[in-house]
Amino acid sequence: MTPSDPTQAAVIGDIVAQGIAHVETPHAEAAFENEPPTVLFIDQSGELGGAEFALLPLARHWASRGKVLLLSDGPFRERLESAGVSVDVSANARISGVRRDALRFAWLGAFPAIAGQVVSIARKARRYDLVFVNSQKALVLGAFGKLLHGRPVVWYLHDILSRDHFGRVQLAIVRWLALHAVDHVIANSRASADALVSLTLRPDYPVRVVHNGIDAAAFAVPDAQDRAALRRRLGLPEDAWLAGLFGRLAPWKGQHVALAALARLPGAHLVLAGAALFGEHEYERELHRQAQALGVADRVHFAGFCDDVPAWMSAMDVIVHTSTEAEPFGRVIVEGMMAERAVIATAAGGVKEIVTHGENGWLVEPGNIDELVAAMAALRDDPMLAQRLAARGRADAQRNFSLDAYLRQMSRAIGDVAV
Ligand code: UDP
Ligand code: GLC
Repeated sequence: MTPSDPTQAAVIGDIVAQGIAHVETPHAEAAFENEPPTVLFIDQSGELGGAEFALLPLARHWASRGKVLLLSDGPFRERLESAGVSVDVSANARISGVRRDALRFAWLGAFPAIAGQVVSIARKARRYDLVFVNSQKALVLGAFGKLLHGRPVVWYLHDILSRDHFGRVQLAIVRWLALHAVDHVIANSRASADALVSLTLRPDYPVRVVHNGIDAAAFAVPDAQDRAALRRRLGLPEDAWLAGLFGRLAPWKGQHVALAALARLPGAHLVLAGAALFGEHEYERELHRQAQALGVADRVHFAGFCDDVPAWMSAMDVIVHTSTEAEPFGRVIVEGMMAERAVIATAAGGVKEIVTHGENGWLVEPGNIDELVAAMAALRDDPMLAQRLAARGRADAQRNFSLDAYLRQMSRAIGDVAV
């Protein structure tokens, strides 16, 4: 592939070079001189999940040197294309039907379709210097074909690989691939990295941790200072105290916990922003039933999937994160901090790498309704405290989770492997 835009190629070259300049390996000099590699990014989902939002800026950054191969079609394709990224869709309904938290042995049933996909992906991969697989399905389909394509494989891990979410067979396959078919693993948090290292049973298994970076500029919402006008624009009550929970509707994201807490906070309102992205429609219906049963339906705003998260977050008084299981990273937490809102989050997984309790946010025990009620009440009753956490949160988020640093670290990882 030839870079279509020389300026962008130069930027990428520079980023790879900057990244590599920080890594003391015997190959660093050689990589510095080389042209950046061409990359085939593979992603399993056409939906807009966190792993896809993590890939988007990286793929945009590498647009002149790579392509994204999507294993399902959907709005993610449109986002990539409007960001100038070249996209190929290679969907197979048999494989798309395998959900990470549903059919535990579905991988076996879908085996013939998987084998076909592996071969077809390997053919495409041969045209690139390197294959970058985003999450598990992409790993399986991209890395199994390594014997055929012979390209180095970089795997970006977004999950905590444990029995909470994955079947034994899936974990065994992922373990085998991690040990035999992957050249480099990047994890979205220390928590995700540690779970993988435990899975491999090799304490020295190398994993590079690169936290997601969030574009601070996107959080400069023009009408954020005029909260009433902003709320009117979004169709939200102007005077209510609003807590916002941003995330796809899924039992482990804990929207039901937030509803239970709301019932014990008279007058407070809750905005649930997000959709049942991966088929959790029954859970969505349950949430509506739960809101009715608790008598809080008039204080809950189901916003659906929001395209403009910075504006919605800026309209809130606090942001709550309620995952009942360890969150691998939690982009929404960093986004809440970037929007300068106090964030209450559950203390498990990658969240503890983002939030320091009482300093830049507030931590509660996962699934503990009492603690969530107490935290929401504390921040509602003490706006100065909320403001202090929000201000520090914004500074920390901008310092620790910048988009530039993310792109630099990811590009450095890609450059290292391509050497
Ligand atoms: N998001 C969005 N609109 C919504 C709800 C969420 O664009 O209505 C985005 C959110 O801004 C975040 C991503 O979806 O960037 C969710 O990522 P996160 O890491 O928090 O969770 P995941 O869904 O990946 O587990
Ligand atoms: C995954 C995780 C989420 C993380 C995102 C981006 O979807 O569930 O915690 O923030 O990937 O890395």
